[in-house]
Amino acid sequence: MEIFVVPTASATGSVAAGILAAVVRSKPDAVLGLATGGSPLPVYRALAEHSVEMGAVRGFALDEYVGLPAGHPESYAEVVRREVTVRLGLDPAKVAVPDGGAPDPRQAAANYDAAIARAGGIDVQILGIGHNGHIAFNEPGSALDSRTRVEVLTERTRQANARYFASPEDVPTQCITQGLGTIMEARHLLLVVNGADKAEILAAALQGPVSSDCPASVLQRHAHVTVVADEAAAAKLAPGTGEVTVRVAGAAVGV
Ligand code: F6R
Repeated sequence: MEIFVVPTASATGSVAAGILAAVVRSKPDAVLGLATGGSPLPVYRALAEHSVEMGAVRGFALDEYVGLPAGHPESYAEVVRREVTVRLGLDPAKVAVPDGGAPDPRQAAANYDAAIARAGGIDVQILGIGHNGHIAFNEPGSALDSRTRVEVLTERTRQANARYFASPEDVPTQCITQGLGTIMEARHLLLVVNGADKAEILAAALQGPVSSDCPASVLQRHAHVTVVADEAAAAKLAPGTGEVTVRVAGAAVGV
């Protein structure tokens, strides 16, 4: 595991975007796993500044709410369209999001895993982490080998995401999420973490026991993980966490 600690959230975007741009330059039809939420937004913004042709890149979103009307601005289909597909010039036909409006969401979830496999698997999976240690919407208690499936969102997650909705009751109660086993099959995991409110859970995920109580702890078992954290989020990491820790100064990342 390599860990980059940078001064600010915007610098996490610069570092992670540099990694992604290098991947796409060497493999123009790379398969990217796309996280939503706040953490990856600086990544997509910084990646848009790179002169790298993204038209052949394929993308799979991590998750989607179940039951939002098609075109809802906070559905992850819409967020991915706005923040990733349009911003980066991806071909919409090459970008998939789990179908949260499917008549049979369980079948849609199974179909999604099959589609990832048909694409040859994910080259780089971008991830954020929730305050309860979730990655994608794998809430505490999720099996470490779980597949893409329908999940019930915890109240903690619904509260965290209420900021995107007119009222907290509007946050859906269910989602389709890539499973932890699905995520672990990606060849490279790129975790982006910002803010002091994530310091405790980041330390638990990277240094604590590997357990479904903290789903992100499964990352410790993956052979190729890159963590890009700002100083506030990295504040509780013990020295020596990860095989390589690089502290990047402000000037090196344009801050
Ligand atoms: C988003 C996702 C979630 C978020 C996590 C952190 O697709 O799967 O796991 O990455 O909830 O969200 P932010 O970045 O908004 O703190």
